[in-house]
Amino acid sequence: MRKVVVRDFRYLNGEIEIPSDKSLSHRGVIFSSLAKGRSIIRNFSDGKDPLSTINVLRGAGVKIEFIDEKTLSVCSSGKFQPPVYDLDCGNSGTTMRLMSGVLAGQNFKSVLCGDLSLSKRPMKRVIEPLTLMGAKITSSAGTAPLIIQGGDLHSINYTSQIASAQVKSCILLAGMQAEGRTIFSEPYLSRNHTEILLKYMGADIKTDGNTVSIEKSELAPVDMTICGDISSAAYFIAAALIIPKSRLVLKNIGLNPTRTGILDVIKEMGGNIRILDERIVCGEPVGDIMVEYSSLKGCKISGGIIPRLIDEIPVIAVLASFAGGDTIISDAQDLRNKESDRIKSVVEGLKKMGADIEETDDGMIISGKSELKGGCCLDTFHDHRLAMSFYVAGLAAQKEVMIDGFEWAGISFPNFENLFEKVKVI
Ligand code: S3P
Repeated sequence: MRKVVVRDFRYLNGEIEIPSDKSLSHRGVIFSSLAKGRSIIRNFSDGKDPLSTINVLRGAGVKIEFIDEKTLSVCSSGKFQPPVYDLDCGNSGTTMRLMSGVLAGQNFKSVLCGDLSLSKRPMKRVIEPLTLMGAKITSSAGTAPLIIQGGDLHSINYTSQIASAQVKSCILLAGMQAEGRTIFSEPYLSRNHTEILLKYMGADIKTDGNTVSIEKSELAPVDMTICGDISSAAYFIAAALIIPKSRLVLKNIGLNPTRTGILDVIKEMGGNIRILDERIVCGEPVGDIMVEYSSLKGCKISGGIIPRLIDEIPVIAVLASFAGGDTIISDAQDLRNKESDRIKSVVEGLKKMGADIEETDDGMIISGKSELKGGCCLDTFHDHRLAMSFYVAGLAAQKEVMIDGFEWAGISFPNFENLFEKVKVI
């Protein structure tokens, strides 16, 4: 386990590029594998999760090569080969749930497995709709490993109880291979990268509010460039907001409105944040973000904004710990099903740091303070977003903080500490 000590410095200043979007990297390589021909994906993520997706696709016979450090070439016939070994999704829920939709439509048996954390996460949410579509999936207790016997699928009209882009994408990827028009509805709109990219690659897909439908479609190969990940940018944004005198410009960040809930919350908290040079890249809005140290106030976060900031809640809890007044986060029960139980683990970690924070069934209540004492050692709970959120809290704490198990940050952001070193003014 790698221990990291968050060291002293004065403030943050500079202009940096944030690594590539993880959600788009998964989708780019999966959808390219379903297209007949050669696709090029530029600025592919170097996180471990997207690499798990590449390994799973290679195991199913797709030819994927790195042309350079960040550029992928994907050559596919549009159909996969029966894997000769179990397909290891590592820590990545997105890999397992999206690939289960893909493999459900392929005429062979495959096994999707994962690490300890992924093997505990709920998979019934994809097993149930895929079974309704005609796939045969075996799993014990609705968790990985999933044994998938794929074949001919038929369309369904499915209403999901949860707003989940992974469930939606799984059903759309199966629907794209099924007879008839598959319709999917969710209570709130979750991230819509799948809809945008499938349309960009020629799928017959229609959206109407929280409902999306798809017909059997063939995809055309793509040449795409992936933008920076707003979920990774969130740690730099949060750090600049709570460390006096800081100012950062983050270049080339994805600004899809289904992902920018954190920006809305920061504005409501009184944060000084601005978008510069907004543009569209491969159907996705992209821009630069300028953020400065600000005096923040607490706010209420619930309902439809939750899926728009679901991965940023741990770092929003850090922000709230430094904001005047209370922040109440509710309707976020699915946080308990992430890489760790993120309600429990965030509360436990920030309490150790000296925050006034309480767990509720579906969220947390944080009473902000002007400082956190720190001077402790924190566990990452084997969860990349907690490792990075605690690092940010450590940057702003009174006394040195040690984080144990920091290698987990590499799941989405291998260069995290080095990039922070670049903008620290000593
Ligand atoms: C993701 C969707 C979200 C998010 C995850 C990535 C995606 O999960 O938490 O990190 O790329 O589709 P849910 O869709 O299950 O909420």
